[in-house]
Amino acid sequence: MAILPILEVPDPRLKTVSTPVETVDDDVRKLIDDMFDTMYAAPGIGLAAIQVGVPKRIVVMDLQEEEDEEGKPIRDPRVFINPEILDPAEEMSTYTEGCLSVPDQFADVDRPARCRVKWLDAQGEAHDEIFEGLFATCIQHEMDHLEGIVFIDHLSRLKRQMILKKLEKARKAAA
Ligand code: NI
Repeated sequence: MAILPILEVPDPRLKTVSTPVETVDDDVRKLIDDMFDTMYAAPGIGLAAIQVGVPKRIVVMDLQEEEDEEGKPIRDPRVFINPEILDPAEEMSTYTEGCLSVPDQFADVDRPARCRVKWLDAQGEAHDEIFEGLFATCIQHEMDHLEGIVFIDHLSRLKRQMILKKLEKARKAAA
């Protein structure tokens, strides 16, 4: 178990198209454990392997929407290996998105409101499910990372440049 460094824009590695996982083995499961540690520590609700510098088609997610009696989020870790989107809805929904690779910056992005996803779990078992709402948005955001796309790539050039400038400023102020 380890917390890994997260790549941030404009790191060119985030533009990599990730390759499929050929065998779901212990090395893959170790990476998945480290990805969850990294995501929860950040904290975030989703992470793709390329965000920790590994160009493999692996996504971890946990929306942590439910809370226990003490108001602590109940964990519901989900892993998607070699995910594929099928039948995206024509109907769109808009969420204000953020990303661990674009720290503290948020913007509205339109995406299909529902989609069917096929994937393998950490045991190599195949799944096929329809997602909607925040879950559908989050899985599509994470799957974009596997194609080298970050949510700010969906924005106008002007908005994207503004966010990149703000990030640069924040980094300089922190240095
Ligand atoms: Ni992201």
